Amino acid sequence: MDIFNEDVLEYISMISAINDENLYRIRNQVSGYSPIVRSGVDRFLAFMIGLKKPESILELGTFLGYSAILMATYAPWAEVVSIEVDAESYIKAKNNVEKSGLENIRLIYGDALDVLRFLDKKFDFLFIDASKGHYNEYLDLCLKITSKDGIIIADNVLFGGRVAKSGPVPHKHRTIVMRMKKFVERIMNDDRLSSCILPLGDGLAVIRYKGE
Ligand SMILES: C[S@@+](CC[C@H](N)C(=O)[O-])C[C@H]1O[C@@H](n2cnc3c(N)ncnc32)[C@H](O)[C@@H]1O
Repeated sequence: MDIFNEDVLEYISMISAINDENLYRIRNQVSGYSPIVRSGVDRFLAFMIGLKKPESILELGTFLGYSAILMATYAPWAEVVSIEVDAESYIKAKNNVEKSGLENIRLIYGDALDVLRFLDKKFDFLFIDASKGHYNEYLDLCLKITSKDGIIIADNVLFGGRVAKSGPVPHKHRTIVMRMKKFVERIMNDDRLSSCILPLGDGLAVIRYKGE
């Protein structure tokens, strides 16, 4: 029996809802399609943070600050650094962080592909959730600043299921699907990594960096 149907996904999303005033307020700032991590993925991030207990967390793609605030809430001892390229989102995220009262979040305005080259500390928990077409470049740069046994989680790696399908891909999605397939194949075959894919949200890659 196929367990991945709409009803099951809806159930997981509903039962996973996190009861937190800050997070609830941010989810409500978006109407219609929302790029915020789906309900269930947020809970998984919180779970992994509880397990790993990272000292330093890096996020690529802040948007309104939902996942940054989530991670900072569940790891109050850690610093969460989050990078956002869009000025409007960055300002809104800054506002949301201020309202949350959390002091362990540092937002950086800029393109992750540039900023990552200048970060000079190591991170032990990284969340990749920026432009879907650049995951391979992000990973190359992230591995340089990931500590041994660090965890990297990447969202959207199944891209609405398109990455799992064979056959022709509509032109507008072709590049992303091709690059994402490359990313998924790469993380499964790189000896430095131990990886798995979870059919949670839009597809999550969970990676452990074993070191060189
Ligand atoms: C899916 S949203 C992030 C959602 C957020 N992680 C959350 O769940 O609350 C992706 C964000 O990444 C940003 N972004 C895209 N490319 C980027 C880049 N190269 N560097 C930094 N941010 C980027 C977009 O502007 C957008 O706000």
